[in-house]
Amino acid sequence: MSEKKQGMRRKLTDYGDAEFSLYLRKAFIKAMGFSEDALARPVIGIANTASAYNACHATVPELVEAVKRGVMLAGGLPMEFPTISLHESFAYPTSMYLRNLMSMDTEEMMRALPMDACVLIGGCDKTVPAQLMAAASVDIPSIVVVTGPMLSGTHRGERVCACTDCRRFWADYRAGRIDEREIEAVTDRLVSSAGTCGVMGTASTMACMTEAMGMMLPGGATIPAVHADRLRHAEQAGARALGLAGEDLRPSRIMTGKSLANALRVLLAVGGSTNGVLHLTAIAGRLGIRIDMEAFDRMGNETPVLIDLKPTGSAYMDDLHAAGGMATVLRELAPLLHQDCMTVTGRSLGKEIAALPPAFDQGVVRPLSNPIHTGGGIAFLRGNLSGDGAIIKQSACSEELLVHSGRAVVFDSLDDLAARIDDPSLDVSADDVLVLRNAGPKGAPGMPEAGYIPIPKKLAQQGVRDMVRISDCRMSGTAFGTIVLHASPEAAVGGPLALVRNGDAIRLDVPARRLSLEVADEELERRRQAWRPDDRSRPTRGYGKLFFEHVTQADEGCDFDFLTRRPFEGLSPD
Ligand code: FES
Repeated sequence: MSEKKQGMRRKLTDYGDAEFSLYLRKAFIKAMGFSEDALARPVIGIANTASAYNACHATVPELVEAVKRGVMLAGGLPMEFPTISLHESFAYPTSMYLRNLMSMDTEEMMRALPMDACVLIGGCDKTVPAQLMAAASVDIPSIVVVTGPMLSGTHRGERVCACTDCRRFWADYRAGRIDEREIEAVTDRLVSSAGTCGVMGTASTMACMTEAMGMMLPGGATIPAVHADRLRHAEQAGARALGLAGEDLRPSRIMTGKSLANALRVLLAVGGSTNGVLHLTAIAGRLGIRIDMEAFDRMGNETPVLIDLKPTGSAYMDDLHAAGGMATVLRELAPLLHQDCMTVTGRSLGKEIAALPPAFDQGVVRPLSNPIHTGGGIAFLRGNLSGDGAIIKQSACSEELLVHSGRAVVFDSLDDLAARIDDPSLDVSADDVLVLRNAGPKGAPGMPEAGYIPIPKKLAQQGVRDMVRISDCRMSGTAFGTIVLHASPEAAVGGPLALVRNGDAIRLDVPARRLSLEVADEELERRRQAWRPDDRSRPTRGYGKLFFEHVTQADEGCDFDFLTRRPFEGLSPD
């Protein structure tokens, strides 16, 4: 038996006799027909996230086969292993509640199983963040393959795709503009193929950020899930994983403060999801790096939105891919990027950009000199109503609501919202500010994507399409509107939203980065002293208890406090 600690010799089960452990391991694995030759090869783990509950991952089985082919062509032994899979529409109460569990599952399997490198196959919103959080913590050579975006489809001659169009059709249905028969027909059309949502939602944002961060082979972010190129990309990733293992090129050399800054830059330039900020904060936390939101806001001022993609523009992910994908974006953004960052190719980002094929005419990615928006895709708000901060996706706002004062209409919980939002007697007008609280990390729990508070039906039927909305929860990256999110600390722990009362005046001033509750300080202090936590639904066992006791607030990425690396030693962007 070779003495080299690679492949099957790694992570031997502890029986107090290492040679016995290896002997026993080989005896069992040989039951699956492996030869001595196969077992002597470097082992590449492949995180398999296929699930009957996850349409975004429907192609994972064929991706696994393609990765395996690449590993074997390069001389390694591929070993797939299952992990938790999360789909946005199939996770109660919300997939965010389970992201940290998936990251722990992935991390512990990567730690426990013998592997020299790992290929992480993710895609749907929370899966890639969970896998990157795990890779950052384990720090074994890792490479991400995403399932890729779905293809757009058509409904009555109009292009449609999950999930920005999902919301538009639902708003039309609520307002009575389309009937039950049509909304039912739309469900046959919105998701026309396997793959992740075909707009710049959270999954696409995370894919683009991962490529920019260097944790994915070039070109991998945008290839549609069902294109043959996606399988070729997976094969190449499998082969490259062998190289990563041989070079011991670990995530800690790739995911640095500078590469995280590149990812944030790309998030802004693609008009990405607000969830991208939250997830990157959690990934950074695993690396001992704090995301400086004030610096991120300043970065926004100098980073124009370049792509014309839904939810803020008009195109879909398959259009972005046809326009050259991330190559076109990175070519334009190059002057604003840290080009010396290492990538999984073993070359710097700058070298990869220099090796890109020539640009060509396309209508999706604008040049830096002629952007869609001049800057500030996501703004960071301060003020007595946002405590440690809140964010707003300016590029998805109604221009006329960027500076707005209105009367608070408060909903105390998700249940309260569901019970009253469409009540014809609800005292609400289009100028009011809708406030949803107790929907944050602990309050809901899991900070669901409920920040897209529906326009009250009676107003929707009058043609109102947007209002200022504020909450301590999140919003789907596919949604749009003048919506303040992630107010931190959340109301459930006594954050500022807990102090708002119906009829209070609220002022949003995005250009000034202010969110204010226009109530006297003495009165606010009086309310603060009177506030008491509601512990009636506090979990007493299992994962719920662990979650409640250890989840951090939005400004720290909602990771578990015991999983982040403290004290923070780095800052990004710096
Ligand atoms: Fe999976 Fe949108 S539901 S990416």
